[in-house]
Amino acid sequence: MKTLLTGGAGYIGSHTAVAMIEAGHDVVIVDNYYNSSPEAVRRVEQITGREIPLYEADAADKEVMREILKKEMPDCIIHFAGLKAVGESVAKPVEYYRNNIDTTLTLLELMKELRLTNFVFSSSATVYGDDNIPPFTETMPKGACTNPYGWTKWMQEQILRDAQTASAADEGTPELSVVLLRYFNPVGAHESGLIGEDPQGIPNNLMPYISQVAVGRRDHLTVFGDDYDTPDGTCRRDYIHVMDLAEGHVKAAEYAAGNKGTEVFNLGTGEPYSVLEMVEAFGKACGHPVKYEIGPRRAGDVQDSWANADKAKEILGWEAKRGLDEICRDAWNWQSKNPNGFNA
Ligand code: NAD
Ligand code: UFG
Repeated sequence: MKTLLTGGAGYIGSHTAVAMIEAGHDVVIVDNYYNSSPEAVRRVEQITGREIPLYEADAADKEVMREILKKEMPDCIIHFAGLKAVGESVAKPVEYYRNNIDTTLTLLELMKELRLTNFVFSSSATVYGDDNIPPFTETMPKGACTNPYGWTKWMQEQILRDAQTASAADEGTPELSVVLLRYFNPVGAHESGLIGEDPQGIPNNLMPYISQVAVGRRDHLTVFGDDYDTPDGTCRRDYIHVMDLAEGHVKAAEYAAGNKGTEVFNLGTGEPYSVLEMVEAFGKACGHPVKYEIGPRRAGDVQDSWANADKAKEILGWEAKRGLDEICRDAWNWQSKNPNGFNA
């Protein structure tokens, strides 16, 4: 199967490219390097020993994307391309709505034109909002999001569902297969240490922040609040190894190729860890304690978020295999070998 990965040079896309190739599929990547570099794709080629067709393009650019899709005619599109920084989305909502929603609309228009049918989408646990109580199951109603980034995911899910429904009703159009993947907290790196998460500027997310403290790039971590109603007072999340997540995409793309309709799957482990548990585990992996201070709560944070991951296991035959030790080991391996990310 040939899969086209928009945003394939990014963190999750590059790991998915490895997993796809290892599962025997062909991969084509489209990225505008807004938040990545072609070096990540070169490293994927190094890991897999395969040359990957790579296009520098904006996935919202219809003319350019038409030429790429006409040339490649992929069996499945996995749409990672998007802006993803929660705080930035509050400051730049229009850019977030424009980029995230436009890319999806462009791809849907071109899929109809070129009669392509299979689509896997990077959604987020953020669509559960803060009204639902974890573990989150796919049948729960989507909640109110706390930021524009979350709303872009919420809206893209809806757009994709509506497009699928219309394709099923229209006899002149091949029926779409849409798989919505709700990721929990992707962390870790490929075990080679050749690819990993390389955030620009000050990391927003916990694991890259911890890694940069551990490697000496930052002085200490600020823990955002220790007065939550949890065993140690810090928030709990479902941290999933990025290679487990990547393997979930292989199963999702294979499912999309063999089924019609819209399906939504949580990709998480089902097991929550607190911020302080992550700090402690990372300290063991890197061989020294990670310095931290307790600070105030961060606006918009939910106390608890973790998945019920049963549906992906039952229908896709997928479950996360890697635990916290492997997550920290691989994140540290990547960070210590590439202290300045891909620019080292
Ligand atoms: P990332 O920023 O590393 O990767 C996204 C890639 O998309 C980047 O390479 C970027 O350059 C590219 N891109 C952005 N806009 C583009 C456009 N218009 N055209 C072409 N390329 C474009 O982020 P990631 O962590 O790999 O996330 C991948 C997807 O998963 C995103 O849609 C993100 O919202 C979603 N997601 C991520 C997380 C997370 O915590 N990392 C959680 C839930 C969902
Ligand atoms: N945290 C700190 N200090 C930091 C960074 C994070 O204490 O410097 C804490 C946060 O308060 C939170 C936990 O670590 O309790 C995890 O925070 P992240 O920013 O790593 O992850 P979030 O769960 O807040 O956000 C992630 C994705 C979003 C997505 C959201 C919901 O980054 O894209 O999950 O699915 F929207």
